[in-house]
Amino acid sequence: MITNKKQFTTILMALLMSISAFAARGNSNTKPEKVFLFAYATDKDKGHNGLHFAWSSDKKNWHAIGPEHSFLRCDYGRWGAEKRMLTPYLFKAQDGMWHAVWALNENTNAFAHAASGDLISWKRQSYPIMMPVGASVAQPEVTEKNGVFTVTWLNTADSKSYRTTTKDFKTYTTATLLTKTATAKTTATISGKPETGTITDVSWQTVDNLIKTHNLSVFKNKQNDESSKDDAIRFANLKPVEGTITVKASESKKISDMLVGVFFEDINYAADGGLYAELVQNRDFEYALSDKEGRDKNWNSTTAWSLSSTKGTFTIDSLQPIHVNNKHFAVLKGGAAIVNSGYDGIPVNTGESYDVSVFAKAIEGKSAAIKIRLIGQSGEVYGETSLKGISSAWKKLNAVIKATKTAADARLEVVTQTQGSMALDMISLFPQKTYKGRKNGLRADLAQTVADLHPKFMRFPGGCVAHGDGLGNIYRWKNTIGPLESRKPLRNLWGYHQTTGLGYFEYFQYCEDMGAAPLPVIAAGVPCQNSGIDEHIGLGGQQCGVPMEEMGQYVQDILDLVEYANGPVTSKWGKLRADAGHPMPFNLKYVGIGNEDLITDLFEERYTMIVKAMKEKYPEITVIGTVGPAAEGTDYEEGWELAHKLDIPMVDEHYYQPVGWFINNQDYYDRYDRSKSKVYLGEYAAFLPGRPNNIETALAEALYLTALERNGDVVSMTSYAPMLAKENHTQWNPDLIYFNNTEVKPTVGYYTQQLYGQNAGDVYLPSDVVLKDASLEATNRVAVSIVRDSKSKDLIVKIVNMLPVAVNTNVNLEGAGNFAPSAKRYVLTGAPDSKIAKPVADTIAVGSNFPCAVPAYSFTLIRLKPNN
Ligand code: AHR
Repeated sequence: MITNKKQFTTILMALLMSISAFAARGNSNTKPEKVFLFAYATDKDKGHNGLHFAWSSDKKNWHAIGPEHSFLRCDYGRWGAEKRMLTPYLFKAQDGMWHAVWALNENTNAFAHAASGDLISWKRQSYPIMMPVGASVAQPEVTEKNGVFTVTWLNTADSKSYRTTTKDFKTYTTATLLTKTATAKTTATISGKPETGTITDVSWQTVDNLIKTHNLSVFKNKQNDESSKDDAIRFANLKPVEGTITVKASESKKISDMLVGVFFEDINYAADGGLYAELVQNRDFEYALSDKEGRDKNWNSTTAWSLSSTKGTFTIDSLQPIHVNNKHFAVLKGGAAIVNSGYDGIPVNTGESYDVSVFAKAIEGKSAAIKIRLIGQSGEVYGETSLKGISSAWKKLNAVIKATKTAADARLEVVTQTQGSMALDMISLFPQKTYKGRKNGLRADLAQTVADLHPKFMRFPGGCVAHGDGLGNIYRWKNTIGPLESRKPLRNLWGYHQTTGLGYFEYFQYCEDMGAAPLPVIAAGVPCQNSGIDEHIGLGGQQCGVPMEEMGQYVQDILDLVEYANGPVTSKWGKLRADAGHPMPFNLKYVGIGNEDLITDLFEERYTMIVKAMKEKYPEITVIGTVGPAAEGTDYEEGWELAHKLDIPMVDEHYYQPVGWFINNQDYYDRYDRSKSKVYLGEYAAFLPGRPNNIETALAEALYLTALERNGDVVSMTSYAPMLAKENHTQWNPDLIYFNNTEVKPTVGYYTQQLYGQNAGDVYLPSDVVLKDASLEATNRVAVSIVRDSKSKDLIVKIVNMLPVAVNTNVNLEGAGNFAPSAKRYVLTGAPDSKIAKPVADTIAVGSNFPCAVPAYSFTLIRLKPNN
């Protein structure tokens, strides 16, 4: 009988470590004082596998630790092509610190450096630029004399060797030519293959710790691999389990009332072509080759547009545009007509009205007119309107078209009624039926599906979109407000185009409309660590950050956002909000700074400036810091250190993990210090091979959410990521809600989020869960959370069963209150691979003690009303 199952993982890990430690101690007399350590990287996988170690007592026979376990991985530049570690050189300094330097690739003017005290836990990486663009740093090596380190390398661009010196691996002297180029590297045969690397002598204890680290990672990988695919074997003899759940009402505690929110990022066509209700694609003719980094030659100002007339011409011009941020426009001549194909077609419904708008000018100064039509694939007209009075100056014209047909694949045609040249831009078509009827609004069905989650907050605009692919791609909120024609469109790092029509005003408005707190996340003055190369500095990844001389304005922009959201209408930015139609404040309370950034010196410098300025000017705002993209590792450790140093109230954690991780790490937050920063688990999702969103992933998330509720005193907010994905335009799986132009398809995981979102509490009541004759493994698959909603006084019992058998429990709520004799129950269940399961609701008899059978692979939620 296991009652303390939350500690299951910890106990197992401790056991493993102590067995290993005992073995080492027990044999200490037989171990050498010193052995040799060989550090190397293989050329396998183009150098993506990081730093490996092997040990030897005679420099002849080498024993790989792993083999090929990665003790340090490079985090430079884009996924795929970059993140390589070539020719690593490991060096032990006189002060005992280990330093690793390595080459990044075959064409970068920087090397990489990281330091460690124990070879296991590595400090932040840096990529100091040593040479001008065009140089290529290879085979860096380090020596030390009197506390001064000399780094040497070969520049393969001119085949010459260079050197620099440093005392701290932060500031370096200017690179100078080097005449002597002897290498301290050597060759060792590892697993029958000659490898090049460095040899250092180390204590046996150092090697033993490396071996234990590898063993621990093997153990963790095995845990992560746990999934239903082995359940038939794992639980071969398991019969339905009998159990009891006994609430401990006297031990209740206050938990966050903001726990479940949503994450919005423009990934998978979530915004343009998705939530943003605009039906015309490339309405501003601003699509550019650079949106897709030149990979699609047909992706340009004419994308989604074509000439539909047999006469006339359609060209693109940029002379005298409507606005400098919106340079391109269409020029139609000789009675030409153009047609827009929408985003996979334009969906229209019979009898519904659509707002049409267009900027137009008659280039040759004559007054002119246009016809705008909704047409079918064969040209049949589903509704039309005429716009007159077009003159020699840009003018916005508006009309309404009522559709006479329901179709998923209509098109919008613009027919000029003149032989002269006419300029057209911002050709827009919006359904009048948007979410809450807003102009420039959101697709009603999609926005409502999100609102039905009852999110307590919405994070936007990302994700990686927030910090961008390179310095020039950082999302700047000021470029996304004001008249649509003046907004600055942006390349979307997920490989398409952002009109910014769905901008900060619309995000705030949507949050307000669905009763969610807005949570904007702003780049910390650095772009995404996975950015491509900036040609000016030759560096990918963080690319040195916003130049320090521009940081003052960058910080001011962030402060201005708070004024835009909350300031009085008399303030500069508050007035712009009022001008946009919202004089009342948006009540902004949270601002995220950074998105899972690489923690580097240049990040820290900028992050510190922003955080300090924000805390000083707006102490009432909860600043949410960032602690990297994973549940452990250097960025996580250093991000948390920084949070303590800067006294940041909350940090944003991200982790996408296998189902097995969620099953085996339910005590993750039970280990957290309650006196430190609170947690916003800003991005998470359970993964399985093939990345499905099914009953198994949804239950893993439901299971973990019981632990998040239990730890709701330290975890303040959570959001599953990503939220939206348009079918056939998906860059990331799994997502919460899939959709096409006419259908919205919530996933099984959506229902987990919805059950939690709609049944949140603010008081947690611990309970004892006792499963009769169940193994540790079985116990770990059942989780319970009981919360109370103080407003309604309802008690909510959540039981997640990831076992392949039913669990027949008795729920004992004595001491938790008096409840109405019947309660609403929701059960989400199905085969682990089901992608279509939905919760089924019924009413059951309850009391202070009642039986409750939960099916195999299920999430059961019971909402008890107080007995009035
Ligand atoms: O959610 C998808 C992506 O995952 C986000 O953009 C990024 O923050 C994370 O790596």
